[in-house]
Amino acid sequence: MNIFIFHQSSEFLASLSEIIGFEIEAKIQTSTYFNELELSLEIESFELVIIEHTRSNNSLIQTLFKKNKPKCFTLFVSSKPSLLKDNQTALSNESMLIDSTFGPQFVIESILDCLKKIMIGPEAQSFIPVSVTRLYLANELPCAVYYKNGDNYSIYLSKEEKISLEDYFLNSNNNLYSLYIKEENKELFFQKSNQSSKQFTAKDITLIGQISLKKTMETLSRRKEFDAKSLKMAKEISQSIINNISHDGQLREGLIESLLNLNYINMHSTLLVIFMTILFQKDESLGQENLEKLSYAAILHDLLINDEDLAKIDKLDKKTIKELKPEEVTKVLSHPTKLASIIAESEIVSKDVSIIIRTHHERFDGSGFPKRISWSEMNKLSRIFILTHEMVDEFINKMNQQETLEAITQKLYHKYEGIGDLERTSSLYKDYFKRTS
Ligand SMILES: [Fe+2]
Ligand SMILES: [Fe+2]
Repeated sequence: MNIFIFHQSSEFLASLSEIIGFEIEAKIQTSTYFNELELSLEIESFELVIIEHTRSNNSLIQTLFKKNKPKCFTLFVSSKPSLLKDNQTALSNESMLIDSTFGPQFVIESILDCLKKIMIGPEAQSFIPVSVTRLYLANELPCAVYYKNGDNYSIYLSKEEKISLEDYFLNSNNNLYSLYIKEENKELFFQKSNQSSKQFTAKDITLIGQISLKKTMETLSRRKEFDAKSLKMAKEISQSIINNISHDGQLREGLIESLLNLNYINMHSTLLVIFMTILFQKDESLGQENLEKLSYAAILHDLLINDEDLAKIDKLDKKTIKELKPEEVTKVLSHPTKLASIIAESEIVSKDVSIIIRTHHERFDGSGFPKRISWSEMNKLSRIFILTHEMVDEFINKMNQQETLEAITQKLYHKYEGIGDLERTSSLYKDYFKRTS
């Protein structure tokens, strides 16, 4: 961690540096001459700046922070609390004022307290990621929330603070996406967000969709295989579907749950839409209307499975069933039919989407569930969906091993060679990724 400390007393600087250095591993730069510092100090390169705030350096501080809005934490030591008032707007929220009239010991203790609170080494504590929508639901936060700052975690919101989705969305442009809580607060935090009485409006759901899509698309655009046009098109289709579903009384709750999961469930739904978009561009006979139906199915199909591990189950064989609790087996087994029935009643979603969802766990050889139907009993859209889902799962599983989509689609093509439109669909994917890999 890089820390800068300014204080007029070199004695104070020495003892503070020593104490900080003892508590945490940090590179500490100090100065007693604030005037000379103005030009050379690049505030942004420090994670923590501690400045003794006096009447004589007040205007310098104002200039410095107006010029370089510090991303880092700033901590002011001052015997004149009123001085800071004028500067407050120019500073980051994390700035802190310590009243030095209580003596040097108090100042040092306060600084150490802040250090522990705002900068905690990754080894010292374990953190778990949380989604912003959960923060929103938790409303008044039961614990502090952190973001990753290099190798450290820094406070993003303190206990009892509230976040508006608009605020978060604005901040998310500054890479403040991944938010964390301390593992020890996990139960408390999830309890609070689960019991929330907060209601999402259609506008909120649209915004959550924007955040989650932006994040997923950014991850995927780092992979070179996808062309920008397909990503953009898939993003637009997904957003418009999310906007439409936000008005469906039956489906909106599940959609929020699904968007809350910034992990497998969410990622694989978005990937499905991207692959459908690619297919649509390769195969004119698919048509805009079918692309839309497939994309609706992509976003909705696992809506009733709000558990990442259960969502990953693609076969319910004896071994898998043995590993699950009976209620989990029921949940997995029933989710296609249950959701299909809800969608069949929906005035917003087409009935054809309900058929795709009903069959999304069937397999071409009849080994799927719940009806064990085979290839010839499914309609064309169901077949495209199942094949694409297989490809997406393979892609996500192999993501860390960097297996290329070219290799994955090659394998899939060989598997389905000679089986009517399965051969055709897999060959279109194979051609696309051969071109882009
Ligand atoms: Fe599923
Ligand atoms: Fe799925």
